[in-house]
Amino acid sequence: MATTSQQALVNQIRAEFPILGRSVRGKRLAYLDNAATTQKPQSVIDATAKFYSDQNANIHRAVHELSEISTQIYDTVRAEFARFVCAPDADSVIYTKGCTESINLVASSWAEPNLEPGDVILVSHMEHHANIVPWQVAAERKGATVVPIAITDSGEIDLEDLQSKLKEHRVRLVAVKHVCNTLGTVNPVRQIVEMAHSSGALVLVDGAQALAHEEIDLTELDADFYTFSSHKAYGPTGLGFLYGRKSLLKQMRPYQVGGDNIKIVSFEKTSFADLPNKFEPGTPNIAGIAGFAAALEFLQRIEVSNSNSAARVHEQKLLELATAGLLEIPGVRIIGSAPNKAPVISFVCEWGHPHDVGTILDQHGVAVRTGHHCCMPLMKRMAVPATTRASFAVYNDEEDVEQLLVAVRSARNLLWN
Ligand code: ALA
Repeated sequence: MATTSQQALVNQIRAEFPILGRSVRGKRLAYLDNAATTQKPQSVIDATAKFYSDQNANIHRAVHELSEISTQIYDTVRAEFARFVCAPDADSVIYTKGCTESINLVASSWAEPNLEPGDVILVSHMEHHANIVPWQVAAERKGATVVPIAITDSGEIDLEDLQSKLKEHRVRLVAVKHVCNTLGTVNPVRQIVEMAHSSGALVLVDGAQALAHEEIDLTELDADFYTFSSHKAYGPTGLGFLYGRKSLLKQMRPYQVGGDNIKIVSFEKTSFADLPNKFEPGTPNIAGIAGFAAALEFLQRIEVSNSNSAARVHEQKLLELATAGLLEIPGVRIIGSAPNKAPVISFVCEWGHPHDVGTILDQHGVAVRTGHHCCMPLMKRMAVPATTRASFAVYNDEEDVEQLLVAVRSARNLLWN
């Protein structure tokens, strides 16, 4: 049971998210698809609308007041975000469309020019396709190989396998996710960085799921690249960040080219802008950046970086309640039982396919994701075709958990024979 003060906190937070007040299929909405995208607080919606109604102009392109304002938003949000994740330097934080673009940028601008035939990129068996396929494409072009790091039955990266593969191959890069979008596993990324660096390999951490649930201290972590997604942490869609070690970013070629990432263009020769603009051609998602400023304020207010904050404790409590409740339902099996998990639960039901289960849950107002979660190799490793995934955010409450459990029991009654 939630304590009165915890419930009061959650009620206060819930009131900030207008969408939670709507019904779906005529039922109260229990939105448990937060690993796909989180809902947005009113402050993010307002900041985005304010940008268009009061501040809209392009950045870096004019001397007029509105352009000055939008450029200031662009620069300030970068600096504030860099401080929030303890980046050594704001110039090492690049605006992108999201984690997928961030990873593609590194694959194209670092991996392709640097890989040689016979080189290896290690990725864990639990990676999202976005942290596998860009490496495959780069490796194929250069005669290199992408090799998977084994994971255990509980859904954790097998560090012994990582160690032996670091010894066995000429590994140039280890690419792993911080938090698994499918299993919820929080990976020991600091240890992985140390192991990889000891072997002379670089590390890219895909932080898509981490920003909303974990502390991220880039200075302490010491990864060479780290990717962020705004929309998975209460911010607008179409926006993300890439952090890169400055010495690497300086050497890397631009990923895309056009206006705003150049110094001088002539038909004889073009020179490129300094960091961070070198990687930021074209008009960026300025409205999204204005909205993200409010998401950042929200993340700071709920103290997402503090594992003892009421919000973090609350999320863990929901994870425990939902896990215990699901395990009581006959025929339900949870995939992924790492001791250190973010609030994400994947499960399979011996009496029904995930798509059928998800469809019945939807009739109860419960929004979950079903399928392979962009992790086909992980599904194969865990010997399941697909799972049903319930993923929680700070605004979820015990009523959402109860609604999920009632809906899964109802699915069993319908599908079990
Ligand atoms: N990567 C997102 C998810 O896990 C889309 O649902």
